[in-house]
Amino acid sequence: MRETVAIFDFGSQYAQLIARRVRELGVYCEIVPHDSTKEELSSLNPAAIIFSGGPSSVLDADHPDLNPAILALGVPVLGICYGMQLIALLDGGTVEKGTRGEYGPAEIETSGEDPLFHGLPARLHVWMSHGDRVTVVPDGFQALACSADGTIAAMRNAARAVYGVQFHPEVVHTPEGSKLISNFLYLIARCRGGWTMGTFIEESVAAIRKKVGSDRVVCALSGGVDSAVVAALLNRAIGSQMKAYFVDNGLLRAGEVEEIVDIFEREYPLDLTVIDARERFLTALKGVTDPEDKRKCIGESFIDAFRDATSHMENALFLAQGTLYPDVIESRSARGGPSVTIKSHHNVGGLPENLGFTLLEPLRELFKDEVRRLGKELGLPEKLLHRQPFPGPGLAVRIIGEVTDEALSVLRQADTIVQQEMYRYENYRDIWQSFAVLLPVKTVGVMGDERTYANVVALRVVSSQDGMTADWVKLPYDVLARVSSRIINEVRGVNRVVYDISSKPPGTIEWE
Ligand code: XMP
Repeated sequence: MRETVAIFDFGSQYAQLIARRVRELGVYCEIVPHDSTKEELSSLNPAAIIFSGGPSSVLDADHPDLNPAILALGVPVLGICYGMQLIALLDGGTVEKGTRGEYGPAEIETSGEDPLFHGLPARLHVWMSHGDRVTVVPDGFQALACSADGTIAAMRNAARAVYGVQFHPEVVHTPEGSKLISNFLYLIARCRGGWTMGTFIEESVAAIRKKVGSDRVVCALSGGVDSAVVAALLNRAIGSQMKAYFVDNGLLRAGEVEEIVDIFEREYPLDLTVIDARERFLTALKGVTDPEDKRKCIGESFIDAFRDATSHMENALFLAQGTLYPDVIESRSARGGPSVTIKSHHNVGGLPENLGFTLLEPLRELFKDEVRRLGKELGLPEKLLHRQPFPGPGLAVRIIGEVTDEALSVLRQADTIVQQEMYRYENYRDIWQSFAVLLPVKTVGVMGDERTYANVVALRVVSSQDGMTADWVKLPYDVLARVSSRIINEVRGVNRVVYDISSKPPGTIEWE
């Protein structure tokens, strides 16, 4: 039987990050609801269990709870943050509201020897994000580490192999976090490991074949990495039962259609049809200014365009999309799902109810960098795999206010300059996304001896690992100067360029 780790989701945005770390360490895992029963879990026969963190307080009356039978299974457990507090509470320890929370970087000191900290320094840099804290560990437990202010940062019950850590080993800001999770998996839970991307391909191919049977799948290619990887995966799984479509929604970057057609005709031949839906999208977007309305409107137009183009295909029951985990997590709402709705990503929340297709989303559990690795294994060209992400709603969410032909033309020109200049930048590969945003703000300028009154373009350049968090890139001044000067000189209708210096959170990467 396949070795599996079960990750209990207590509503943390990081539950999937934990999953990703575990898979990176070569162990297959699945995320399960926090209230899963012993019986539900038995089909997984988990080798280890991890409890995620979560936004709630274990001290609140209606906090997301755990079935106590889970702790009695005898399976090694690692509780993270909320997960640790819950273990403490259920086993008779004490959890209290701190007078002030611990958020951000912290240093902890470990005491004594424990396999969890094997090979790690006694003083560890970790990432904290909690208000409550465990003040008394339950009987049978001992504290393994403390923060500078004496807060218990880790605890264990050695006999039962039940561990808790107050910090977040799954985030990159805990530099040794992956090693700690590895220690838990291999030294404490004695996992065998050996799970790879190749295994993911085999399993996905089998699952797709089983689900699709003898029916057909239409695949929505967006030109980005995600949908291309989906198409390649489907190509491998069901070959000619899949037909790929690329919707030209009129919201694409300059030269985008030509480039995609070229890749899928010459470098990675696929059965690809371009749907010219420019008119449909632009008409639907007329007068729409609210970001959520835009996204919903684009989602609907997208499906309509698809329906029209595929209506002649017999047995086309499935629609495959390159939805990734960050798209899913940010479109889910509060209880039962990890986070409040931040944005309706067009390939998730914006889809109309009466879709008419069954969705096939084989990358739903993956992060971007995992998808790139998958694409590489499937033989997709490097230049496609290293394209920057581009949102489904395209330039529409980079034009603040109404999307018009004129605004699109101005933004496209500015965007082309951004792409050209960023491509020349020596650290281009370190950049997650670089793009221009057209603001509905006019400012006064002077060009030659003339007064100008034209729009502002914001430049957004961010680094990120997975799109969940991001930071603005400290670009060299000369790069900024070149981008600004070229946009102002070459794009009619723009007389000012500003640089967006907001991180995510609290900003998001796209402006809408
Ligand atoms: P935000 O703006 O939410 O973006 O910080 C996170 C990442 O997702 C991309 N993005 C989208 N991708 N459909 C997509 O396929 C969408 O509706 C969508 N909206 C944002 C964004 O470009 C960034 O990489």
